[in-house]
Amino acid sequence: MTDGFAETYGRAPDGVWRAPGRVNLIGEHTDYNDGFVLPFALSRGVSVAAARRDDGVIEVRSRQASTVVTAPVDGPPVVSEGWPSEHAWAAYPVGVARVLQEHGTGGASLLIDSDLPQGAGLSSSAALECATALALCDLHGVEIDRPALARLAQRAENEQVGMPCGLMDQSASLLCTAGHALMLDCRSELSSQVPFDPAAAELTLLVVDTRASHTLTGGEYGRRRAECEEAASLLGVDALRDVKDLAGALGSLRDPVLRRRVQHVVTENHRVEASVGLLRAGALSEFGAMLNASHLSLRDQFEVSWPEADVTVDVALRAGARGGRMIGGGFGGSVIVLTPAARAEKVRDAITAAYEKRAWTPPEFLDAIPSQGAHRLN
Ligand code: GLA
Repeated sequence: MTDGFAETYGRAPDGVWRAPGRVNLIGEHTDYNDGFVLPFALSRGVSVAAARRDDGVIEVRSRQASTVVTAPVDGPPVVSEGWPSEHAWAAYPVGVARVLQEHGTGGASLLIDSDLPQGAGLSSSAALECATALALCDLHGVEIDRPALARLAQRAENEQVGMPCGLMDQSASLLCTAGHALMLDCRSELSSQVPFDPAAAELTLLVVDTRASHTLTGGEYGRRRAECEEAASLLGVDALRDVKDLAGALGSLRDPVLRRRVQHVVTENHRVEASVGLLRAGALSEFGAMLNASHLSLRDQFEVSWPEADVTVDVALRAGARGGRMIGGGFGGSVIVLTPAARAEKVRDAITAAYEKRAWTPPEFLDAIPSQGAHRLN
């Protein structure tokens, strides 16, 4: 990174920062309903080599893109500027710079490198935001605690990029620790570290990139969020997190679509809490049932799954896995599968064969080692 930066900018960077992507164990589409999530950080992520600038300009280059984007840090929301689509990736770092400059940061020259597949539902956008945010704070001597920084990175994605995401991905990238999943209450923003070590229980967690790529700036995510907000308002609660009597709520909603959305969010929150209990008790193999229930709920009630995800879960279970589910926003991306370690190879082979049979792009299997959150490399 340092050499690449010197070749590009003709000087050494002031430092290199790295932020990971994430896998969410359970708690999907709960974050923007003030609920619970349980992500862990991947070893893959985004690195940003950066040098401070004092001219109020942010210049961004990426090893994964040929375009160079130079923009003032005090401009309007990026989304309002009508950037050409080949600059879309740069909206994340520039958006972060624009949000953070209100808190005292300034310009920088950045070189970005990523080993996270994009559109795989592993939060490459949040990793880019968080690595940039840490770099800008360090370069300009601004101290913001990590939960607050996660909020600001989320705000950048909401206001600058125009994607109405919740708080999970940025929190995962900034707050996760190695060997743990992060139990985050998205209302209070309180979090705790939950030990997660499948190997100790002779289990393997597979992360399967289904290669059906998603774009969450598309309308479906926003529509789900709006449906949840509408249901909460009809039920007279601040957020679906507050629904205590599910049967009563379902009975009072007329719209079957809203009923399905409520059913998912309320039960998914319970599944996160139950899962944390199981993990803390060391009952990891029981956790497989939670994954299966979550997948069915996302497929049938929240309606965000996609064919490759359904087939992956189905085939994995038939090959002896304990559980599996789609992760992330949906409509493409990745699936997790929890399997006895002794069967992991058989499960992988069965998934690969199922894709081959359908003439789908072969899936990719990624390491799922709960890793440390964002940090400075040098
Ligand atoms: C995306 C969003 C998150 C969260 C998930 C669904 O990853 O960025 O905030 O809503 O979808 O759980």
